[in-house]
Amino acid sequence: MTATVPLRLGVLGAARIARLFVEAVRPSSKVVVAAVAARDTERGRAFAADLGIPQVHASYDALLADPAIEAVYVPLPNALHARWAIRAADGGKHVLCEKPLAASAAEARAIFDAATQNGVHVVEGYPYRAQPQTIRTRELLASGAVGRVRLVHASFGFPLTDAANIRMDADLAGGALMDAGSYPVSFVRMAVGARPVRVQASSRRGASGVDTTTLASLEFADGAMAQISCTFDTARHRNAFIAGDAGSLATHYYNDTGGLFAPVIEWRKGTGWDAERIVVETAATSGFLAEGEAFHDLVRSGMSAWPGATPEESLDIALTLDAIAASAVEGSPVDVGA
Ligand SMILES: NC(=O)c1ccc[n+]([C@@H]2O[C@H](COP(=O)([O-])OP(=O)(O)OC[C@H]3O[C@@H](n4cnc5c(N)ncnc54)[C@H](OP(=O)(O)O)[C@@H]3O)[C@@H](O)[C@H]2O)c1
Repeated sequence: MTATVPLRLGVLGAARIARLFVEAVRPSSKVVVAAVAARDTERGRAFAADLGIPQVHASYDALLADPAIEAVYVPLPNALHARWAIRAADGGKHVLCEKPLAASAAEARAIFDAATQNGVHVVEGYPYRAQPQTIRTRELLASGAVGRVRLVHASFGFPLTDAANIRMDADLAGGALMDAGSYPVSFVRMAVGARPVRVQASSRRGASGVDTTTLASLEFADGAMAQISCTFDTARHRNAFIAGDAGSLATHYYNDTGGLFAPVIEWRKGTGWDAERIVVETAATSGFLAEGEAFHDLVRSGMSAWPGATPEESLDIALTLDAIAASAVEGSPVDVGA
């Protein structure tokens, strides 16, 4: 057996989510968070001291120039993902970028072009994708547990009132759709296995002008339909329902269940009132830990080792988000670009 060579990861920005990520991967033998950079070096030092990170760089560019760093984690505001993912790729670093990968499909394309040119991997982080619960959901779908997927509902919401949060800033590509909506759009893309062809959406906007709730209907070329919702105005929830012509799955897609509830999938096998009810239990793990380890496997062994969104899926997600945003503004259905 070959020994595991840990992935030496650098973090761009002392973000709130980066703290959770770094804490989660600490026990792993596959990932070493070796450096952090923050716009304010003191802030970077405090972050590194709290989390046991040995190296603090004075700028994001200085971290990217560090030859000891193989890959970077990008937890920056959405509007900065493309700029820094491309700079990292140009510097020969692999990139795990927070969702949404980019602020538009054009930016997402530019990121993947840079990855191809530089021979590195750039992937979009959805920790739930690496969770056993999601892996089991995908196995059930692939084994025909619900037959042909015909309908998907996916929702994602949490309460947000802090006007200073990056999610409330349109210039940083905030808003419920970009922040929360990328999750249900990614879930639907995974469950249906295709990009929608047409969407119709409506949004409610807050004082800063960003959407705080968005609903959208999605139509697929094979006749499947889906609905997504995302909001900053409700109690926390991430629920999903997948119905096919032979059964259904009800699940949720949290990154961490935090011991609050068991990660289960409720499978209805059959089409009538007498459909068998099977509760599929899966292990509770940290999605960030699972994602970090899967990112190591991706860099060491290639794309087949990555349970997360592939570049094709991420591009489809970005095209779908573009179309939903346009439909919510225009108030009419919009074709999803290719
Ligand atoms: N996967 C998930 O479940 C999940 C959960 C939460 C967030 N996220 C994603 O992670 C990203 C960050 O979210 P967060 O909640 O961690 O945000 P945050 O705490 O506000 O952190 C954003 C970081 O970006 C850096 N930054 C650089 N330029 C900035 C600017 N002009 N304005 C504000 N910050 C700037 C700051 O780092 P320094 O000043 O330290 O350099 C800051 O720490 C977003 O893309 C979000 O969608 C994902």
